[in-house]
Amino acid sequence: MAERDWYGVDDYISRKLASGDEALDAALAANAAAGLPAIDVSAPQGKLLGLYARMIGARHILEIGTLGGYSTICLARALPADGRLVTLEIDPHHAEVARSNIAHAGLADRVDIRVGPARRTLDAMRVAGEGPFDLVFIDADKPSNPDYFAAALAMARSGTVIICDNVVRDGRVIDAQSTEPAIVGTRALFDILASDARVDATAIQTVGSKGWDGFAIAIVK
Ligand SMILES: C[S@@+](CC[C@H](N)C(=O)[O-])C[C@H]1O[C@@H](n2cnc3c(N)ncnc32)[C@H](O)[C@@H]1O
Repeated sequence: MAERDWYGVDDYISRKLASGDEALDAALAANAAAGLPAIDVSAPQGKLLGLYARMIGARHILEIGTLGGYSTICLARALPADGRLVTLEIDPHHAEVARSNIAHAGLADRVDIRVGPARRTLDAMRVAGEGPFDLVFIDADKPSNPDYFAAALAMARSGTVIICDNVVRDGRVIDAQSTEPAIVGTRALFDILASDARVDATAIQTVGSKGWDGFAIAIVK
């Protein structure tokens, strides 16, 4: 299938199964108006995240990389009324836009946005004994993926699902000679997923409005 058809099929899927969502459409519009980069998950991907959360009955979710809160909204909607989602963001402007988008979606009561470098926030969370989380979505700076995965594991329980976005990157993930920090970080994550006996994992390539990329998904044994 020609590459251009990815977009048509993604558009078809979005229109059929993931459209007409006022809060998500408003979030994307607010992100664009505020100058945020359009690097959120796509509508079908966001829906998939929410479905995963519902499939496992998630009550506590950790997200690393908020941007304007698009994926946050998709995940937080899957929570029960007393559920909680903690999302970590380094950029105060992104966090401010996300806060507004999340409030507009009616989810402010269950989402906790923490601003600062995620590694530092995660260290503080571990020291404070936070967790266990039922689902962790890793979607921030890719070179730090191995550290974020380690932190997710430290705040997990048996059955926790850990999802990591952008692990294919137009196929560049198979370039063992790459010095691109995001590729080096992603390949290091694959090494951990392959060798860490505490998890069972796979990765799935995706094509669509966000190009050629993929998710890794792991479950803690
Ligand atoms: C790909 S975007 C997240 C997209 C979001 N998950 C969504 O799909 O709507 C990555 C976000 O991670 C943030 N980020 C980058 N480095 C970070 C770090 N060291 N700590 C926390 N957040 C970081 C960026 O500012 C950006 O907002």
